[in-house]
This record gives sequence, structure tokens and C-alpha cells, in this order.
Amino acid sequence: MNAANEHASVVFTPSGLRGEVLAGTTVLEAARAIGADLDSVCGGRGICGRCQVEPTFGEFAKHAITSTTQHLSAVGPTEQDYRGRRPLATGMRLGCAARILGDVVIDVPPASQIHRPVIRKGVDLTDLVIDPIVHLYYVDIPSSDLGGDRSDLRLLHDALSEQWPACGIAAEPQIRRSALVALQPALARGRRSITVAVHGGDEITAVWPGFVDTVYGIAIDVGSTTVAGHLCDLATGEVLASAGLMNPQIRFGEDLMSRVSYVMMNPGGDVELTKAIRNALKDLTTQLVAAAHIDPEHVVDLVLVGNPIMHHIILGIDPTPLGVAPFALATDLAVSGVAGEVGVMLRNSSLYILPCIAGHVGADTAGAVLAVGPHRGDDNVLLIDVGTNAEIVLGNRRGLLAASSPTGPAFEGAQISSGQRATPGAIERVRIDRETFEPRIKVIGSDTWSDEAGFAEALPTAGVTGVCGSGIIEAIAELFLAGVIRADGTIDGACADRTTRVVADGRTFAYVLYDDIRVTQTDVRAIQLAKGALYAGARLLMDRAGLDHVDAVKLAGAFGSHIDPVYALVLGLVPDCDPTRVTSVGNAAGSGAVRALLSAAARSEIERVAREITKVETAVEPAFQHHFVGAMGIPHATDPYAHLASVVTLPARAGTGPEGARHRRRSRLATATTSTSTADIEGAP
Ligand code: FES
Repeated sequence: MNAANEHASVVFTPSGLRGEVLAGTTVLEAARAIGADLDSVCGGRGICGRCQVEPTFGEFAKHAITSTTQHLSAVGPTEQDYRGRRPLATGMRLGCAARILGDVVIDVPPASQIHRPVIRKGVDLTDLVIDPIVHLYYVDIPSSDLGGDRSDLRLLHDALSEQWPACGIAAEPQIRRSALVALQPALARGRRSITVAVHGGDEITAVWPGFVDTVYGIAIDVGSTTVAGHLCDLATGEVLASAGLMNPQIRFGEDLMSRVSYVMMNPGGDVELTKAIRNALKDLTTQLVAAAHIDPEHVVDLVLVGNPIMHHIILGIDPTPLGVAPFALATDLAVSGVAGEVGVMLRNSSLYILPCIAGHVGADTAGAVLAVGPHRGDDNVLLIDVGTNAEIVLGNRRGLLAASSPTGPAFEGAQISSGQRATPGAIERVRIDRETFEPRIKVIGSDTWSDEAGFAEALPTAGVTGVCGSGIIEAIAELFLAGVIRADGTIDGACADRTTRVVADGRTFAYVLYDDIRVTQTDVRAIQLAKGALYAGARLLMDRAGLDHVDAVKLAGAFGSHIDPVYALVLGLVPDCDPTRVTSVGNAAGSGAVRALLSAAARSEIERVAREITKVETAVEPAFQHHFVGAMGIPHATDPYAHLASVVTLPARAGTGPEGARHRRRSRLATATTSTSTADIEGAP
């Protein structure tokens, strides 16, 4: 300490920030002056407990400081009387009460940092630093003088500027209408002490009487089939409730294009679809608030992601331009507003929708990019979100490319003879004995394989009801590895001589998987078309990027979560890659929405990245057709799968020797009766 002018040195850890302050300065004031990250909601009134710090004592040669207990003021009445929700542990001090009397080293624990690391739970928020766009400030407002010329809003604005100089509020007061309506009742009930929510540093969006230190936000991924949301504590990032429901628009059409067709064919259909999804958003947010046992008035932010058609319908924008070339978006910017604009009855909540990237690549893909972060690293990452369309993003920190590939609904179990959605009773895992061709299966809702004791007893009530997307992928890949399906996708009728599982099915053959659940030649063709489109889209982006391989493949979405990476490679869904680097990233779109909810910086990041992504339109690229044809082979007609071959014994390619000639003849027969051209899927989004 410098006795002459009574200054003291203070060092904040872990940031390492240091400075000189006048003796008698509180730790909170010192942190603000030096720029150290120390939280406060009550403005130093000893109420919120967010400013807790841990002084450390001893010789600190590194800082040239001797920190002693006498260098902080003794615990006084504010700390003795503190009864906040975050108890003051032994050795901790309230930064707003403890005064610096001499040189000290002060540790700011993560829970007291404004930009605090997230508590990970349920949603993958690795490396996210919490920095929500809404901040709370507790303010005391002087009474308006009789005959005074300052309104309560101006008094609030002045008090905010004086009591929270670092809050950066705009020179002129800006307040949302709903907050303005609530202002005077809150001042009356709070005896002129209120808490305000400030959005983006400039607009007052909510006011409450008295002290409020916890507010919440909701992030929702609006899928064409399901709508799933998370309710989070905006201070800690903790996910307090998660819920999902079916998208009620399904009654207007299973897939997106049929919903757009409904709008085209039925005047006012767009209004019906908007009403349906907004009702779902209202129901889901109500469910989440109830599950988290919180006051709906304390929900201050709502973030949405969705594909372009969902995005437009939610906003009440006619989606029909997205159904025909050139698939024009109404906007590719992020959308901000209030939750009430999309039918969500949370009066204090703002609204933010992530930007769409292109006509077929929506805010859900932007969310996935934000969650997975291919733009943050050097590896060339292929990010794939498989649904009725596959959204594909490729690149690294030097740039990203994006495209949508028309995979059709086969991966979701549609167009498959015994296909179904991934619900209890659906076959999701398949293994086929290489010698006997006998299958083992596992169904959703049971952990028991079909060759294990208790399989029948462990089945869900409905029994074995069909095969879902991951099940059909595994079945076809296993049949290929067993030699029942040839590299060109033909079910080899010669195998009927060795097993009763392979049976004639008209002029082709089918494989009996379980009871009357079969894998037919048409099923195999449907999957070949879907995987051919997916692979061709990925290869197109690789061509554009000048790459002959990718470093990692990230599979997003429900389908991507269930598919086994090795089977994805065996079937040639994705380009060859080290199988250990083909991984599922879960509901990345939803994780991205949560990131945008918890971090203003994440919003700026995805807005910048989305703007810079190069869009590739697969429908107009001649090379797409070329790649598609080659990708009809399993895993591919010509492209090598060296990484895969190092971990899996692939059957020798047909085409050499008399056996190959026999198979080629048989293949031509089967192909002639079942082949489908890419024209069947072109034009679909
Ligand atoms: Fe609120 Fe210290 S700032 S208790």
C-alpha cells in the first residue's frame, strides 16, 4: 500500500487483472474500475449475493504483493445480515461490502462471474460462456416531485444511468410498451424500488416491483415433425425443463412440401398452418414454465430455430416461394421481436430467430453450425442433418459451404415397406450372421436382443411393429456385408438356396427380417436413392472446396443420433473417413438455439457466419447427377473406402471372374424391374 496517497494494489484472479484503487474502495467498485468480471444484480445493496469473492492471503511474488486479512475491512452488518439464496460460505466475502484497505489478491469464483462458464446438463454447451442479451438491474427511483417535469420513465432512466453507470443504457430512454404499462404499478408496489430487464444494453423490456435476481429463457427447435424446447436459467445456463410435442401441422401433410402444397391449393391455408404452429409454441412454453415451477413473468427471452418453411410459417410469411425455384427466402437475417408476435403469451419475453442460410438451408442448420462450430477449427468438417432433406455444411475456419440434398423420407422410415417412425416397437438394430444369414434384432423400447432370453417378454406392448430409419440402414448394410445384397444393391436370389430368409418377391427377392417384416428390393432402392443424394450433395461441396477427403463427419438430428457411424460408412451415406471421426452430435439445432439464448456473442457469431456461408444449389449442378449415379453403389461404385476397409471386411466387388458375371446378369434383371432415376427425387426440397 502506498501510504502517501492511500492507494492499494488489487489483483483479481483468475483473470490476472490488477490495478491501484483508493483505500476504502469496495471490491465490487474496484472490479468495475479495473474491468474484472464480477457480477451484481442488486447494485451493491447486499441482497443478491452475486458478488461473492474469495480473498487469498500470503506472499505473492508473482504479483509483488503481500495480501493479509487486515487488508480487507472486517465483516460488517451487511454481510452478517445477508440472507440471499446463495449462502456466503466460510472465507467468502460480499464484494459490495468488503472494502480494500491494503494490497490484496481476490479470487472471483465462476459463479460470481458475469461471463461464467456454463453448467452442462442435457444439452451440449461445451465451451459456451454465458452472456445473455438481457441483464437485470435493481434501482431505487426518487419520487416525482409535485409539479416536477420529469416522468417516471425519465426518473427511471436517470436512476439507471447514475446507479449503473456501466450498463450502457442509451441517452434517451427506450422502453417496450408492456414494460411501460407495468412501470407505475411496479413503482407503487415496490415503493419505488424496482428491478428492470435491459435488452441489448439499450431497451427496458420488463419491470418488476422489488428485487428480482433470476430470469429465464426458452429455446425451441421447431421441426417439421416434432417441436422441442428447453427452459434455462439465464444466469447459470442450467436447463430447468425440457419438453416436446408433435408438430400439429402434420394433419396438413406429413412432409414440408405437402404442407406447402396445402397452402397453394387452399386459400387461407397459410393462416391455418401459422395458427397451428403458434398454438403448439404456446402449449409448449406453458408446459415448460409449469414443469420448471417458475413465474411466467420471469421469462424474458425466446429463441427459435427451424427450417425455412417452418421459419416463414411461424412468422406468418407465405411459404409458397420456398416451394418453387429459385426457392427465395423472404429474409436471411436474424429476426428479433417480442414473443407475443408468434402467439407465445409470455408478456415480458423478447423473441429471436436465428438467420436462415438459403432457401433449403434454414435457421435450424444455422443452429447446428453454431453448436458444432466447424468455423472455429482447422479440420474440414462435414456436418449433416438428415431429415426429409439433408442439410449439409462443409468447411473450417477458412470458410463454409452449405447445400441441401433431396434425400426424401426413406431415412425416416417412409417409402419402406415395413417402415415406421422411430417409436417403441420399431426395429432399430440388426445383425446378420455371415454364414447362416440369420438375423438378430433389437427394437426401440427394449434392451434385449432377439437371440437373448426374455426378448418376447421385454418387447413393448405393441410388439415388433416395423423398422425405423436406423434399422433399415443397419439391415441393408448387414445384408451387404453378409453377401446377401450385392454392391449394386440387388438382393441376391442365389442366397435363397442357402436360407429360407431370402424369398422370391415377384421378379425380385426379399429378405425376411422378422415375421412379416421384410426388406424388399424396392426398400433397398429407396435407401440407395436417399443415400445417393446425400453422398452426391457432400461430394459436390467437397469438389467446390477442392477436397478429396474430409477430416470429420458430424451427424446431427434424431436420425444422426441413432445411426451407427460404421453402418453409415458401409452403406456409403457419407464419404470415406476415419470411423472414429464419424460421430453423432445429437440435436445440434436445439443446442444451437440454447447457445443463442444464453449468449449475445453467440448470436453475433452465427449472424456473421451465416452471412459468409457459400450456398451451393444442388439442383442446378451437373456434377450432382454424376456423383449421384456413382453413389448408388454400396458403399460406392468407384470411390474407395480405405478407412472403412481398415475396420470392416468388405465383400469383394462383383465384376471379376465367373461369379461376378453371373451376378451381373442377375443384377441386370433385378435392376431392370426396380430401378428408379434421380428424376424421382429431383425438385423435392
Ligand atoms: Fe448484490 Fe453484493 S452486489 S450482494
